[in-house]
This record gives sequence, structure tokens and C-alpha cells, in this order.
Amino acid sequence: MCGIVGYIGEKDSKEILLKGLERLEYRGYDSAGIAVRNGDGITVFKEKGRIADLRGAVDGDVKGNTGIGHTRWATHGKPSRVNAHPHQNTSDRFTLVHNGVIENYHHLQRDYLAGVEMESDTDTEIIVQLIGRFVEEGLSTQEAFSKALKLMKGSYAIALLDAEEAQTIFVAKNKSPLLVGLGEDFNVVASDAMAMLQVTDQFVELMDKEIVIVRKDSVEILTLEGETVERAPFTAEIDMSDIDKGTYPHYMLKEIDEQPAVMRKIIQAYQGEDEKLTIKPEILDALQIADRLYIIAAGTSYHAGLIGKEYLEKMAGIPVEVHVASEFGYNMPLLSERPMFIFISQSGETADSRQVLVRIKELGFPSLTITNVAGSTLSREANHTLLLHAGPEIAVASTKAYTAQLAVLAILAAVTAEARGRDLGFDLIQEMGIVANAIQSQVDMKEEIEKLASDFLSTTRNCFFIGRLMDYFVGLEGALKLKEISYIQAEGFAGGELKHGTIALIEEGTPVIALATQESVNLNIRGNVKEVAARGANPMIISMEGQSEDGDSHVLPTVHELLTPLVSVIPLQLISYYAALHRDCDVDKPRNLAKSVTVE
Ligand code: AGP
Repeated sequence: MCGIVGYIGEKDSKEILLKGLERLEYRGYDSAGIAVRNGDGITVFKEKGRIADLRGAVDGDVKGNTGIGHTRWATHGKPSRVNAHPHQNTSDRFTLVHNGVIENYHHLQRDYLAGVEMESDTDTEIIVQLIGRFVEEGLSTQEAFSKALKLMKGSYAIALLDAEEAQTIFVAKNKSPLLVGLGEDFNVVASDAMAMLQVTDQFVELMDKEIVIVRKDSVEILTLEGETVERAPFTAEIDMSDIDKGTYPHYMLKEIDEQPAVMRKIIQAYQGEDEKLTIKPEILDALQIADRLYIIAAGTSYHAGLIGKEYLEKMAGIPVEVHVASEFGYNMPLLSERPMFIFISQSGETADSRQVLVRIKELGFPSLTITNVAGSTLSREANHTLLLHAGPEIAVASTKAYTAQLAVLAILAAVTAEARGRDLGFDLIQEMGIVANAIQSQVDMKEEIEKLASDFLSTTRNCFFIGRLMDYFVGLEGALKLKEISYIQAEGFAGGELKHGTIALIEEGTPVIALATQESVNLNIRGNVKEVAARGANPMIISMEGQSEDGDSHVLPTVHELLTPLVSVIPLQLISYYAALHRDCDVDKPRNLAKSVTVE
């Protein structure tokens, strides 16, 4: 949440910063700003709205070869020009951008900034005012920055400019991600390597509670106590074509279309030399020791976790609990004797999941992160990582990461089953190949699926999803997808549950999307559809070959019963996409949301 960029070098920084912010817009997009430094001092441009709005506000004549920028997802203070970053202290000497939340900002204001008039409602302004105050009291900028960091509680990634120290960007982080990118005669700062791939693919990872002094020809990493830290750079292995929309109107559609290729890539990535699926032995050992697995995740990743539980219990025979991350940390259930924790997170940065990881590490329990982002916080901090290999996912609505999570969970469960001597009774590689083809068949049916979306959803204000067994979990995901991008109020229910209260909401024409891919409960879900239809609902049944009936709205090709979620979710993703499109919603950047939720 919130994206930060910085540049120090010989070129005018404005365009590099703006392009970088455009790449980070997925992290927040309610306001944005840049500050550039030149011989005349520091000039700040900021605007409410998107980076495109900021571009309109930037004066092309003002040049500066040092600069910082920010795209915001509001936490403290509503989205507005005045609350947009960068923020400056009262004398305008210091200019700062910040991603994160300073939990004790009220106390810091009360204890150190009495009499200082704040311009904004943000916690961020407190940081820059604090640094200004400490410098007035006689500290150097670095000392003042370090003192402020030591006092601050919460999460932050910060880039700071000092009008009197032209050759430096001061940088620090705690819990929020931040990288320094290396170039010849320039260096850059970014929340995500993607932002600065335009100028470099060499990056240095920053660790919590370090101060980094970035100059155009050097990067000095220090602990808060002033000790030098050496750290080798890494090459960001992201292909520019992965982060471009190409000819697609939206990233979401591109990412939906990429899913067959992602399935094949995952199979390849997890195949050993003998072509059998393989998982690192140390991960398998950890799973073998565990008497219960605890899956921790949020949003779409939580929905993937619900299906992961089915895989791990049914294939590998290990009991699993699935928990919403934001609750678990504050209401931990009684744990088993030898628990192991699995964190599922596309971004690997979700603060709700990280707070659980921090707690369970303190308790000494082993952990595995399943993520799309190598080197992300959850990956670095867990004992083990399994990568999704889905390529960057940029649309806020998660699609290919969800199916990749299911695929990796299925592989983990299958390989664990084998290690435990359990016979699966099917060849997962072969079945995944069938799934990839089935997904392809669905993404090739866009016109039919678009028609379903416009027939059922063009004017509705609400919609229900029902399903049983794994269809129920896919329905939850379908509902989340629909509501987050089309703003139609949508809820997923277990097929038998609607009649226990929510059926009161069914009116003439209310759309009810029913999934019917689970053979053992096919008749039951069809019974549930009849219950809502009898009360005026407009049912759309999505079934699977072999279980379909005349009148079903859409029939999926058959895949292995355990793998049906990988296919049944595709029409739901496309229905959401087209519903949002027909309602003129901003598909890739829905209101109030951001791609990676780095605040609790
Ligand atoms: C999904 O479409 C959402 N954008 C959201 O629910 C997301 O899955 C959730 O915030 C968790 O993110 P993560 O996978 O990066 O941890």
C-alpha cells in the first residue's frame, strides 16, 4: 500500500519518477506527488487522484536531478491534495514520502512537537516535522533521521530529501518493503523493482531498521547504531513484457488469459530431473513432523487456503485449519502439539499475515510461505518458500495468482502424500495438463461469458453465489471478485445455508449463480437452486460435463474432481470482469482498494 520512488543522478528526475509511480499505481491510487531538487531548492507537485492527474500538475520547466515520489492509499487523513505526499516540515527544509502507519504518531506529536502547526491530517507529517525539530536542536540530518526512526512505532518505508544536502536521499524501512536500485552515475529507490526496471535490474534489498544513504555514485547501508552493513545486489528477474498490458485493455483480462500458461509453467517448475513432481526435502520433512497445519491468509489467498485444506487433508492426510490472518494474530486458537504454519500470499507483503508470522516465530513454530514474489517479506521471514511462478500480477483483482496458489497447493499435497506412502490414484501432472486445456477452453469463450454477465448482472444491485463442497469455496471467491470490481453486493454461501436466513433477500430477478461441479452433491445443489427459483431468483447454473442438465447456463469441460476449482473459477473471473466493464467501473483499479495491503 502506497508506493515510493526516488532518483538521484544526472538526468532530470521527473519523468523517471512519474513512470515509476505509474508502475506502482497498483499499490494505491487516491493521490500522488513528487518532489524534485535543483539549485533553487525543492519543488513539490502533488494532486488528488491518479498519476495521470499528477502529470497534469507537474510544471515541465522545473528540473531536478534528485527527486522522490509517492502514490497513496489513504490511512490517516482522507484522499486530498493536502494529505498527499511528499510532506514538508514547517521550514520546508525537509521533504519526505512514507509508506506504512506510524502507530504512536499522537504521542510523538504531543511529546516532541508542541506548538508545531500541522498542515495535513497524516501520520507522515509528524515524521518530517520531527526530523526538522531534531535538526533545529543541533543534530545532523542523519542523526535526526535515526533518532526519529528509533522513536517511531509501526511500519514505514521512507525516502527523505534535505534541501541543504543536495547529494543525498536518506532512506529507511521497517516492515514495509523498499529497495535501492543501482545504476551508472545514478541510483534509485523503489517499493517494488518493477517501478525502476526502466533504468536498472540491479537492486539491493533493505532490511528493517537500517538507514541507507543513497548518493548518485554510492549506497551506504548502516544500522540505526551507525555500523556499516555490506550487502550484495541481486538481479530482478522480471521481464518488461510481463509488466506491460500489451494489446489488452486491462491487466485483469491479460492475467486471466495467462492462466493456462501459468499452469504449464508451474508443472515445469516443480518437476525434478526424473520429471516427477518434487518439493524440497526440508519442506517435506517439516510437514511430516507437523501434527496439524495452519493456513493463514487474507482475501483471495484465504479462499485458496480453503481449497488447500481439502487437498492437504484428502491427498496427504494431514489435518488442516484455515484462518483469516487479521483475526488469528489477536485470537489465536488452541494449537496442536506440533503445528506448522503455511502463509499464502500473492504479494508476500500482506501486513495481516506478517503479524501472525512474527507471533508464531516468537513461539518457535515452523513456517512455509507460498507466494508469487521471491524475496518478499513473508518469503524472507518464513523458514521455507514455495513460489507461484505466475509472473507479476498487476490488476488489483487477483486471478492468475489464485489458480497458481491452487496448483502449488495441489502439488504440495500430492508430493507430501507420496512421501507418506499414500496412493493418490491419479497422475497429477497429467490431470494438471487437462486442467490447463480446460482453462484455455474457458478463456476462449469470452463472448458467451460476456453475454452471461450482461444477461444476469447488468442492472442488478446484488447477487448470490451458491455451491457445495469445493464449489462453495469457489463461490466465495466468485463473490469477492464480483464485488471488488463491479461494486455489486455479492455473497457466497454454502448451497444449503441460504435458506437459513439470507433467502429473505431473494426478490423477483435476484441473480443466483450456482456452481454444480461436485458429483456427490449435484442433486442437492440443484435442489437449492429450485428453492431460490421458487422465490423469484434468476438462477445461472454453471455445471460440468457429465453432470449437466438441459437449461444449465454454462457447462465446463470435465477435469479431476479435486481440480474443479481451477476451472470453475474462470467463468466467475470473466463474469466479474465483464460486469465491471459494462458498469463502467475501473477494472484494474477498483475504488478504495490497493494491490498489496501492507497496513494492518
Ligand atoms: C483479491 O482480488 C484481493 N485483491 C485481495 O483479497 C487479496 O487477495 C488479499 O489482499 C491478500 O493479498 P495477498 O495474497 O497479496 O496476501
